[in-house]
Amino acid sequence: MSKYVYIETYGCQMNVNDSEVVAAILKEIGYEYTETITQANLILINTCSIREHAENRVFQRLHEIKKLRARKSSLLIGVIGCMAERLREQLFSHDVLTDIVAGPDSYRDLPRLVSIAARSKQAINVHLSKTETYDDIMPYRVGNNRISTFVSIMRGCNNFCTYCIVPYTRGRERSRAIDSIAKEVLDAVSMGYKEITLLGQNVNSYSLTQNNTIFRFPDLLSHIARIAPHTRIRFSTSHPKDMDNELLEVVAKHKNICKWIHLPVQSGSSSVLQRMGRTYNREWYMQRVEAIRNIIPEASITSDIISGFCGETENEHQETLSLMKWVRYDLSYMFKYSERPGTIAARDYIDDVPEEVKTRRLNEIIALQNEISAQKNKQDEGKIFEVLVEGISKKSSEEFRGRNSQNKTIIFPKKHAKIGDYVSVHITDSNSATLRGTIINE
Ligand code: SAH
Ligand code: SF4
Ligand code: F3S
Repeated sequence: MSKYVYIETYGCQMNVNDSEVVAAILKEIGYEYTETITQANLILINTCSIREHAENRVFQRLHEIKKLRARKSSLLIGVIGCMAERLREQLFSHDVLTDIVAGPDSYRDLPRLVSIAARSKQAINVHLSKTETYDDIMPYRVGNNRISTFVSIMRGCNNFCTYCIVPYTRGRERSRAIDSIAKEVLDAVSMGYKEITLLGQNVNSYSLTQNNTIFRFPDLLSHIARIAPHTRIRFSTSHPKDMDNELLEVVAKHKNICKWIHLPVQSGSSSVLQRMGRTYNREWYMQRVEAIRNIIPEASITSDIISGFCGETENEHQETLSLMKWVRYDLSYMFKYSERPGTIAARDYIDDVPEEVKTRRLNEIIALQNEISAQKNKQDEGKIFEVLVEGISKKSSEEFRGRNSQNKTIIFPKKHAKIGDYVSVHITDSNSATLRGTIINE
């Protein structure tokens, strides 16, 4: 009789990609991937620790899943990913009935962990590796439309931004071999994927020495753009400190590299950036944005912003708002600072901005971003974009949704187009979240 694994994923795209690696590993020992939780013999929750809220959501979910065990006593439940790494054995003592705990670098060990758990013992591996990149594992790509997928090019992070848990949950930064990245990209192309995003916590810190030659991210990116000339290439996330002109020139030069730079600023204040350990200041960041504008004039720029970091004054908050107005981000992901146990900030600073002040500042940041996004989208009205058709619009079955090179979502009537096509869309309307238009040639 077949055995089934159900994997639920929280957190960032790297986790989404890791779940596919896990599905591939478990397939080797006879577990079929299922999207129906009640069919599963093994349920894995791939977790995120980035903010307290992210962890609370997972705990809630684990409590719900616990109920399934009452109906199927042989059901195994595992917590994998960043919370597994951070909380380790604590997850066994927690009232969520976990059988397996596996950190982000121990997925190759899952077959052994599952067999231990099947003998009614708790199984754990949270060892972090300096070398594991799951190089040779072809992720089991899930989902029904083969349009867009992700390829991990590096793992871990060495930056230790003072607020961030990632270096502790994901371990040291390591870059994956170029040949193995290229093979996975070509494999995805042959499966019909039209868009590939190269993934890592700091993709532009990619560095690999092969045959006495150092390959950096611009080298990797131009290589990938060349071997997959008809595939859209994106990359995320870039750290401002490594956003050099050479990389921007590679993006400008290749037609198939998307003109979208996600460049998280975190704060517009140099003193806050210093406390965050970001290694750049406001001026450096502004000068990088100017370089993007000069070298890739049509590029969209997006960001991550944190409100209410330790010691943030009203003046420092105003500097974030003024920087946002100066850059005019197309979109930002905006968060309230959430103290993470074990980080440098938790050890050295006091989380002293009151909750209501954090909320008010975040709301100001969100309101400003919405206003800027709406204005920027308005400027796109009248333009014509090449759009990759990705699926049916959520609101109407008569309309498609897709994205342009700048990563903006565009909604348009279907006409004769098919999912996976590239179409030219004339933009006629917009709001702060989406563009609308019509196909002009097919
Ligand atoms: N490696 C990427 C992103 C990492 S996590 C980078 O360096 O930009 C994604 C985002 O979560 C971060 O950019 C940051 O804005 C946010 N984040 C990280 N830790 C946080 C914390 N403790 N509280 C609130 N937001 C946090
Ligand atoms: Fe976290 Fe900073 Fe590393 Fe990004 S660069 S993952 S924010 S420590
Ligand atoms: Fe979350 Fe881990 Fe990604 S903490 S954001 S799942 S690297």
